[in-house]
Amino acid sequence: MAAAVCALAVALLPSGASASGAAWDLNAFDLCKQVGLPYVDDNASGATYNSDTGSLWVVTRSPNHLVELSQRGEFLRKVSWHGFDDPEGVAWVGGHYLAVVEEPTHGGITVVNVAPGVADVYQGRTAVGIEVWSNAGLEGIAYNHQKGVYYVVQEKGPKRVVEVHKSGYHKELFNLESVGVGDLSGIYYSSSIDNLFILSQESRSVIRLAMDGNSVQQRWDIGGDRPEGIAFTPDGQKMFIVSEPRSMSVYSTNGCDGIY
Ligand SMILES: *[C@@H]1O[C@H](CO)[C@@H](O)[C@H](O)[C@H]1NC(C)=O
Repeated sequence: MAAAVCALAVALLPSGASASGAAWDLNAFDLCKQVGLPYVDDNASGATYNSDTGSLWVVTRSPNHLVELSQRGEFLRKVSWHGFDDPEGVAWVGGHYLAVVEEPTHGGITVVNVAPGVADVYQGRTAVGIEVWSNAGLEGIAYNHQKGVYYVVQEKGPKRVVEVHKSGYHKELFNLESVGVGDLSGIYYSSSIDNLFILSQESRSVIRLAMDGNSVQQRWDIGGDRPEGIAFTPDGQKMFIVSEPRSMSVYSTNGCDGIY
């Protein structure tokens, strides 16, 4: 099947154009807290939010862990990963299951069970083996719970989003070469607004993209060392950005009460 290549017209909203406090509106987010992740040496590179538990999972290398954090960034638990070749992204797929994507383009997606009491998970390619052409690797993964498909983001050469089905079938969803960011480093999918949020580490920004791929809805500049992972609460009111080597920023659209 032919890959869908979409030309993107960059239509940026002027900042402050939308009402403050609006969920999912990047301009409405305030930075509430930036926390160091002292148990991570080098690097925290992906993040996801578990709606069942209200907690976050961050994938780290050195040490090789999946770390569970509270929304305020407190350490809750760690699970050691084994056999992965540079995992860069993680997405909650429901229950106690997380999908992990590895940077090498011959890697794939492994679903791991991090139920309470589990201390170790293993690379097993239990979900999907994928092989995509590229000059650089896969940096992030999001999951569409309604359609049961993954969206994997490729760093550069080309910068693009690949839709991956559980059968292993995959296709290019969007080519983002023309959106004017240096690379792509993380991805989140919101089913309530059917938009993708894509992080660029080199440009230190977040892009909000409609699923028709025809326009960039918003572009928003952030701080942080090397932002690599992005997650939201499902109401679109809190945003979490994890950066290399070891920090997390917590943003909110409706005040910072309870976050400190
Ligand atoms: C952490 O990331 C930096 C820059 O991306 C890289 O040079 C370094 O090798 C990474 N560290 C580990 C342990 O992978």
